[in-house]
Amino acid sequence: MSVKAIIGAQWGDEGKGKIVDFLSQKVDFIVRFNGGPNAGHTVLNKYGKFKLHLIPSGIFNKKAISIIGNGVVINPEVLVKEMKELKKAGVFCENLKISDKAHLILPWHLEIDAIEEKEREKKGKSIGTTLRGIGPAFSDKVSRFGLRMGDLKDLKKFKEKLYFLFELKKHILKKTENSFSKVYKKFLSLRKILLPFIVETEFILWKAVSKKKEILLEGAQGTLLDIDFGTYPNVTSSSCILASASQGSGIPPKEIKEIIGVVKAYTTRVGAKTQPFPTEMPEKLANILRERANEYGSTTGRPRRCGWLDGVLLKYAQKLNGFTFLAITKLDCLTGFDKLKICIKYKEKQKVVPFEKFSISNLENYKPIYLNLSGWKTFPSNCQKFSHLPREAQNYLREIEEIVKVPIKFVSFGPEREKILSI
Ligand code: IMP
Repeated sequence: MSVKAIIGAQWGDEGKGKIVDFLSQKVDFIVRFNGGPNAGHTVLNKYGKFKLHLIPSGIFNKKAISIIGNGVVINPEVLVKEMKELKKAGVFCENLKISDKAHLILPWHLEIDAIEEKEREKKGKSIGTTLRGIGPAFSDKVSRFGLRMGDLKDLKKFKEKLYFLFELKKHILKKTENSFSKVYKKFLSLRKILLPFIVETEFILWKAVSKKKEILLEGAQGTLLDIDFGTYPNVTSSSCILASASQGSGIPPKEIKEIIGVVKAYTTRVGAKTQPFPTEMPEKLANILRERANEYGSTTGRPRRCGWLDGVLLKYAQKLNGFTFLAITKLDCLTGFDKLKICIKYKEKQKVVPFEKFSISNLENYKPIYLNLSGWKTFPSNCQKFSHLPREAQNYLREIEEIVKVPIKFVSFGPEREKILSI
């Protein structure tokens, strides 16, 4: 098996960073292929605790090449800051490669993101974006105004393109804190640091595929935030499903043999409170889980809404991604709940909704039908076999397999690298 993809099966924040960190110890290449610095992959290992926004979570494997693929939008300031933070912890980025086709997030994109979000808020239609300029940067990409990392190579052309974009944005922004000369100057210094890393990464990956190297494709966000199949318009601006792993790296789809769906043992969602969340827990219970599981955004620090596991949405994610395995995360965080629930079906106006009739655009009208399960009181701190798990936890996992019809391969039960069970 040479190419594996890690895909979030829910609304992001599934704990993908932990799974990537674990799996990347044995691979030759790790590739981020979508999203941008809106992601916050938390990794805890011997080097310390990190929240990686752009650099692949595999950077800690010194023998591997880490790639930021063409599907990612890059804020060079965030990237350089992240590189410096890693360096301080003794992790060097000499094996980092950045696609020349990855688009740049410019200071004006952040300003526009803030303006657009404010306008939506006034109309009660807030998406709750991370304000990292993601939407405006992807808009420029598809409108063909975007600047790419490769543009940094030819300074004269870069300056021209940057000025063109500045003139364009000036009309939208009316006033900006980021004058052309200020941005250009900033980019001159960032360019010096980043230039050596910029290459046509698809060529590296094609060679790796032909040599049967182990490649791990690291997805950001999650299936329900996908621009097409997610809970539009409350989604991110890139695709988050398996198909984007190919589009955002240049690896042909047929080469991706293993597709690992990362599923948190319960559901969380960020963004405005008005966005539909069928399995949301009552506030008291949600508060307990949020504190216990530290459910606060790793990029924004915002509290996440918490709910029971939603089997209907997992089935939907399975249809879109064709997972070959699941990785369940944060199972330990459910310890101490007397009863646990998993949503197995939806009903609308008292009628059960068959899966074929389910619509992701109609979530606000669905009420969950739950399977009730017993909880477990304690969780072993050192768990090396499936049989070491409390019997109720084993049942809980078996129910997930039954609903999604995909075997569970990994169970994570703590943030540390070693707190993971391979089944
Ligand atoms: P944007 O990607 O910053 O434009 O935000 C769009 C929506 O996606 C907002 O509801 C964000 O909270 C959500 N979002 C973006 N990135 C992540 C993530 O990594 N985890 C969870 N939600 C995210």
